[in-house]
Amino acid sequence: MCHQGIERVQGLDRAGGKDYNRRARLGKVAMSSKPFGLEPSRAKPKPRILLTRDEIEATVNRLAAEIKKDYRGKSPMLIGVLKGSFMFMADLIRLLDFPLEVEFIRLSSYGRGRESSGKIKVVQALRSEVKGRDVLIIEDIVDTGLTISFLLDYLRKKKPASLKLCALTDKPSRRQTPVTIDYLGFTVPNKFLIGYGLDWDEKFRNLPDICVLEE
Ligand code: IMP
Ligand code: MG
Repeated sequence: MCHQGIERVQGLDRAGGKDYNRRARLGKVAMSSKPFGLEPSRAKPKPRILLTRDEIEATVNRLAAEIKKDYRGKSPMLIGVLKGSFMFMADLIRLLDFPLEVEFIRLSSYGRGRESSGKIKVVQALRSEVKGRDVLIIEDIVDTGLTISFLLDYLRKKKPASLKLCALTDKPSRRQTPVTIDYLGFTVPNKFLIGYGLDWDEKFRNLPDICVLEE
């Protein structure tokens, strides 16, 4: 228990500890009586906050400042990896005050649950020419690294002028292939994360905080 008497998320080294359901009951977060369309009997597992919306905002501000410094005078193409990066992308780009292009790519790597299928393919391709552009990939999480390695190879073959990666979260304990993250938000523990765009079985993307799904 933490000093406020609210249970901490076990084994987490960051801002865990605020029980999402308890906060929802106290009216501190928006949550319906049947959260996320689940029946009460299926409303487990419980989301618990790992990174609050304030911490996320501060980190997005920091990342935007770093990106502004490096890309001033350029006109980069930001490629968001769907679907998980959409919220991060939206918050990040409104802090960038130079010309940029927004693109999205959709890759499939995960099945409908928590485990990667390992086979990655492009499900929705880019509409713009990458050749000669300064490309910055915007990703929600680097987990095994298989998806982003695939995407980096895929884009490199299209001969961009430069290619960098911005990831909101990194779960290095799960890595299967080395990945260089040029702009990193948070290093996170080996827990399944939801919220702020991240899903479990297409649910929970709308949570404004990043939460851990606990059984
Ligand atoms: P990777 O190929 O294992 O690095 O995983 C890449 C993709 O899997 C990420 O872009 C996410 O969309 C998804 N993913 C990985 N870990 C999590 C998680 O903890 N929560 C939600 N989605 C995840
Ligand atoms: Mg993703």
